[in-house]
Amino acid sequence: MKTQVLIIGGGPSGLLLSQLLYTRGIDSIVLERKTKDYVLGRIRAGVLERGLLDLMREAGVADRMEKEGFPHDGTLISYDDEIFRVDFSEHTGHAVMVYGQTEVTRDLYEAREKANGKIEYNVENVVIHDADSDAPYVTYDIGGEARRVDCDFIAGCDGFHGVSRQAIPLDVRKEYEKIYPFGWLGILSETPPVNHELIYANSSRGFALCSMRNENLSRYYIQCSLSDSPDDWTDEAFWEELKRRIPADQAEKLVTGPSIEKSIAPLRSFVTEPMRWGRLFLCGDAAHIVPPTGAKGLNTAASDVHYLYNGLRDFYENNSSEGIDTYSQKALARVWKAERFSWWFSSLMHRFPDQTDFDYKIQLAELEFLRENEAAQKAMAENYVGLPY
Ligand code: APR
Ligand code: PHB
Repeated sequence: MKTQVLIIGGGPSGLLLSQLLYTRGIDSIVLERKTKDYVLGRIRAGVLERGLLDLMREAGVADRMEKEGFPHDGTLISYDDEIFRVDFSEHTGHAVMVYGQTEVTRDLYEAREKANGKIEYNVENVVIHDADSDAPYVTYDIGGEARRVDCDFIAGCDGFHGVSRQAIPLDVRKEYEKIYPFGWLGILSETPPVNHELIYANSSRGFALCSMRNENLSRYYIQCSLSDSPDDWTDEAFWEELKRRIPADQAEKLVTGPSIEKSIAPLRSFVTEPMRWGRLFLCGDAAHIVPPTGAKGLNTAASDVHYLYNGLRDFYENNSSEGIDTYSQKALARVWKAERFSWWFSSLMHRFPDQTDFDYKIQLAELEFLRENEAAQKAMAENYVGLPY
């Protein structure tokens, strides 16, 4: 087979890139290791930056999001019983959209299917060949049959555990990593959200987050130990712990119910450089991971897709390779700023096992400074709604 852009990975990065290219008549094939149902079964974050909203509009997949998503103009931040609000609209003129990543992915699958886009599911043994030449190709197995696709470019959108990053030789590739000594235990429950905006809570017992998907679907998280398993936590124990970590007046109005999903995610910051090697381009989790504090994972994947899509358009429509030649540099400049914000927000909000009383006092002082200082709130709001592309 032959295509212009071979995309490895059918998560949000790969699907969004494929759909955007389609709007410009650029042909792609997506190779996905799992099934569609498996991909749609993953519960991920649910806050979309304005840049991603614009990309979804450009890709023609924004209708349901505009109807069913919830624009949020601000967020609440609490520390013990203190609580304050950071107003995104006032400080930046922009809001964010609460709309689950699962729904974004569902809308993208639907659009790709409607357009007869080629997605191969259940592929195995994907191998990238000759990425540093003008004639790259990819081989894989599907249903026991070996296949080969020749292409102009390869987009590595295969997440943190994919093969694309590994195809960049070690003497070219440098990786930067920080592992946090705790995880997030998250539950989804068919209950009304405790508040109409998110609450990020720093408490002496550890971090908590009150988030949502819609009027009757809530997403809550508590910081937990990395040695915990979701089975260690009954729903009752989760709700009790969450209540202890948010201000008393919020805890009082919290509606609890059975969890319909419960899982633990570790927290990691990770960046690989460069994000391009020859005709291979990394996008999204394949190149970088952020801790979930601030919901930058999907949004940073989207900014990569934006730079790559525009670079490829320039190549095919204007015969210019400037966009693809500067891809890695442009994408990484923004990636590192999202890494910094996620690291800062994580550091501000969690209890660290080796934290001294001094460190805790510094966290409280920083929270109070943020509460009182307009400039600090503006800086936070600008990062939260998303830095410009
Ligand atoms: N061959 C084909 N597909 C693969 C391979 C492989 N060798 N390895 C992984 N994949 C698939 C995975 O099954 C997955 O569906 O690639 C997809 C990658 O999707 P994600 O992990 O969701 O990554 P991405 O599309 O970059 O999405 C951005 O940012 O922080 C996160 O939660 C956020 O998942 C979101 C991500
Ligand atoms: C979520 O709703 O899952 C969510 C929201 C905000 C975050 C992280 C996760 O910072």
